[in-house]
Amino acid sequence: MNKNDSWKQKIAYQIYPRSFMDANGDGVGDLKGITSKLDYLKDLGVDYVWICPVYASPMDDGGYDISDYYSINPMFGTMEDMDELIAEAGKRGIKIIMDLVLNHCSDEHAWFKKALADPNSEEAGYFWFRDSGENPPNNWRSMFGGPAWERVPDGRWYMHLFSKKQPDLNWENPKLREKLYEMIRWWLDKGLGGFRIDAITHIKKEPTLSSLPADGPDGMVDCFAPTRNYPGIGKLLTELREQTFDKYDCITVAEAAGVPYDQLGDYIGENGYFSTLFDFTYSELYVHGHTWYTCKKAWEWPISLLRDKMFASQLETQKIGFGAVYFENHDYPRACEKFIPHEYQSPLTQKMLGTLFFFLRGIPFIYQGEELGMTNTVFESIDAVDDISTKNHYRIAINDGLTPEEAIKAVNRYSRDNGRVPFPWTPGKNGGFTVGKPWMKPHPDYIEFNAEDEAKDQNSVLNYYKKMVALRKSEEYVGALSTGDISPIMLDYPDVIAYVRSAGEKKVAVICSFSPYPLNAKLGFDPQKLLLANYETPFELRGGKAVIAPFAAFVCEI
Ligand code: GLC
Repeated sequence: MNKNDSWKQKIAYQIYPRSFMDANGDGVGDLKGITSKLDYLKDLGVDYVWICPVYASPMDDGGYDISDYYSINPMFGTMEDMDELIAEAGKRGIKIIMDLVLNHCSDEHAWFKKALADPNSEEAGYFWFRDSGENPPNNWRSMFGGPAWERVPDGRWYMHLFSKKQPDLNWENPKLREKLYEMIRWWLDKGLGGFRIDAITHIKKEPTLSSLPADGPDGMVDCFAPTRNYPGIGKLLTELREQTFDKYDCITVAEAAGVPYDQLGDYIGENGYFSTLFDFTYSELYVHGHTWYTCKKAWEWPISLLRDKMFASQLETQKIGFGAVYFENHDYPRACEKFIPHEYQSPLTQKMLGTLFFFLRGIPFIYQGEELGMTNTVFESIDAVDDISTKNHYRIAINDGLTPEEAIKAVNRYSRDNGRVPFPWTPGKNGGFTVGKPWMKPHPDYIEFNAEDEAKDQNSVLNYYKKMVALRKSEEYVGALSTGDISPIMLDYPDVIAYVRSAGEKKVAVICSFSPYPLNAKLGFDPQKLLLANYETPFELRGGKAVIAPFAAFVCEI
C-alpha cells in the first residue's frame, strides 16, 4: 500500500460515469467517454480519478449493487475499454481509482442466485440468512428505510443494510473473504492506482443479531450501533489489507462513516487499514429528524458549527495521518445548497466554498461539475428522479401526509440526483454530453455554466479551480499546502472560517467569509503576498483592522 508519501501532494477527481460523457450516443456516459475527456482532467491538474462503480449491475443503486465483479456493465462499455482507460490515463500521469463495494453485492449475483436455489450451498454461507418465521429476525432499519431484512420464497430472511437488492455479504465466512481478496488482486494486477472502498465500516455485525429499543414510530432502530465500526472489525480489515493492498503500490480511500477519533489511528495511522478516509462529521450537518423535509436548511444552523466540526476533524486527523477532503460527492446535493442560502448562490460564493475545502489538510477530491460551480438542478416531479434513496424519502413524506408539491421541495433540496445530472461540456444541445437522448435531464443552466465557455472566461469557477490546483502543487507552497500543519485562526468571528497551513518557515493563511456584508476583523497576521482570491481586492487594511468583502475568500503568504 502507498509505498511512499508522494500521493499526499496529489489531487483527486471523482467521476459519476453515467453522467460524465457519452461516447456512443446512447444517452448514458461510458468509459470511452471518460477516456475522451482525460485531457480535460489533465489540464485541470488531476492525478487520481475515482470512478463510481462500472461493474456489471442491475443498477438498483447506481451500480453499488454488483452482479459480477469481473465484468463491466455493458452500459459503460467493455473490459477492453477499461484497459484502454487505465493505459491512456497512465500516459497522462493519471491513475484510476475504482470503487470497491465489499459490504454487499446484488441479488442478481451468481452467488446469491445459488444461495437462493440451495440453502445448503457454499454460497448460502456468503450471506446472512436466518429462519425467523413470519417476522424479520430483528428490528434493524435499513439505510434506505424499511426493515433491513427481506423474505425469500422458501421462508428464509436475508439481511440487507441498503436496498433489498443489495444483500449483505457475510464477512465471517473465510471462503467468501478469499473470493473477495482474489478479485481485488485481479483488479490491482491491471495497474489500478487504488480503490475507494464503499461502506466498509459495515462489514462486521453484532453477532447475536438482536433487536434493540426502537427509535421511531415504525418500531425499528437505525442499524448504526449494531453494524457500523462494530468491535472486531479491525481483525477483518487487517486481513483485507494484508491479503490485498499491501502487496501493491496503491492508495486506499475508505468510506468510513462512524469511526470515532480515538480509533482513527487504527484506520489511517502508520500501520492503518487504509491510506486515508473520508470523514463525514462536517458534511452532513443538515441531516436532522427522520427524513429530508424535516431537515434544517443552509443557515438554519450557524456557520461556526461547520467550522467547529471541520476543525475537530482536521486537528484529530493531523495527529495521526492524512485525510481525504471533499465538499461534494455523488451522495449529496451540490455543496452551495448545504452551506449558502439561495439568494447568495453565485460563482463568487462557489469559489469561496471551493477555497475553504481545497486547502484543508488532506488529499482533495473534486466532484465532477463542482469545478464549474454547478448548483442543484430542478426536479418537477418524482418521475424525473432515478435515485432509490430519493424515492424512499419522497415516499416517507407522502406517507406523512405531505402533498406531492411539498414533498418534491425536499427532493429538490437534498436529492443525490442533483449531483448526478449530465456534465455540461458545451452550450450546445444536451450540454455536449450526448448526441442521443440523455438518461437524465441536463441542468437547466448549462448554456451559462459549461466547461467550454468557462475555459475561455478568466473569471470562471473553472479557471479559479485551475489556479487552486496550480497553487497547491507549486514547488514553493506544496509543502505547506499538502502535508503542512493546519491551525485555526480568527475564531472570534462566527461568520469566518480561516486557518493557517505551515511547513517550517512557510506559512499560508486561508480566509473565507460567509458574511453577505463587509466584515471588520482583526486578521491577527501580517499578509505578505496575496496568492489567490475570489475578488481583485478581497480585503482592505484600515487602521489595525481589515474590511473583508462579502463572501470573500483569499489565500496569502504570511
Ligand atoms: C455508499 C455509496 C452510496 C451507496 C451506498 C451503498 O454510501 O456512496 O452511493 O448507495 O454506499 O452501496
